[in-house]
Amino acid sequence: MQHSAVLNVMVKAARRAGRSLKRDLGELEHLQVSLKGPRNFVTAADRRAEEMLRDDLEKARPGYGFLGEEGGMREGADKSHRWIVDPLDGTTNFLHSIPHFAVSIALEREGVIVAGLVYNPANEDLFLAERGKGAYLNDRRLRVAARTKLAEAVVACGLPHYGRGDLEVAHREIFAAQQHFAGLRRYGAATLDLAWLAAGRLDAYWERDLSPWDIASGSIIVREAGGFVSDIDGKDAMLTKGSVVAGNDTMHRELLKLIKTAAKEPGQEPAQA
Ligand code: IPD
Ligand code: CA
Ligand code: CA
Repeated sequence: MQHSAVLNVMVKAARRAGRSLKRDLGELEHLQVSLKGPRNFVTAADRRAEEMLRDDLEKARPGYGFLGEEGGMREGADKSHRWIVDPLDGTTNFLHSIPHFAVSIALEREGVIVAGLVYNPANEDLFLAERGKGAYLNDRRLRVAARTKLAEAVVACGLPHYGRGDLEVAHREIFAAQQHFAGLRRYGAATLDLAWLAAGRLDAYWERDLSPWDIASGSIIVREAGGFVSDIDGKDAMLTKGSVVAGNDTMHRELLKLIKTAAKEPGQEPAQA
């Protein structure tokens, strides 16, 4: 399948970083691991992959800005373009040899995400999308699932751990979701949660306390697969607010309503949108 020049650049860089991650996956016992915060791990594998991605993307598009999870923001001469990169999404899965993790690359132009890639090197799933050109898994065109009944739907979510996020609010939201959906899943890689939703494997997804590199690539892949993505208040500020709600039109609307009601303190009126 013919991809555009910019998608080819992203695929080539992601595959090289993926090979490096697979090598490190085979030598976990020797992998240097450190903590970035409570239960928030970073490894030499994350850093190595990010350096490779930054070098390859810089060579292919000199001057573009680069925002990476591990190295932070690097301004470029070209102020209208910025890469948003998570070299290893699902580090805790990776450290447990759970083959559910991904390289994530998004390209932002004038503040709008115009291309996204999520690549799981453990199973070679390569999710791609470009603005106005659709979303693909390997070479198959993607469409979100058409289910409209919550009782038949599977929803994925984040599960905040100690030291991160509001456990009380999360428990209320999860309790509400358990009452309405057929199934609840916690997979441990936000970029793959969005990509799986685009592929129709999941019907809905929500999460708070995320970073731009967790959301950017998956948000365009879902939208180009005909899905809806917003922040927790139904607006388009996912990257700045760090929250995401996604699904087909009905699932997105119903999940937003459910979360808004569940998130409020017991006895408190739901927040007006
Ligand atoms: C994490 C994963 C996880 C989500 C966390 C993220 P990381 O990314 O996406 O699913 O719940 O909030 O930080 O740290 O493995 O790149
Ligand atoms: Ca991440
Ligand atoms: Ca990461």
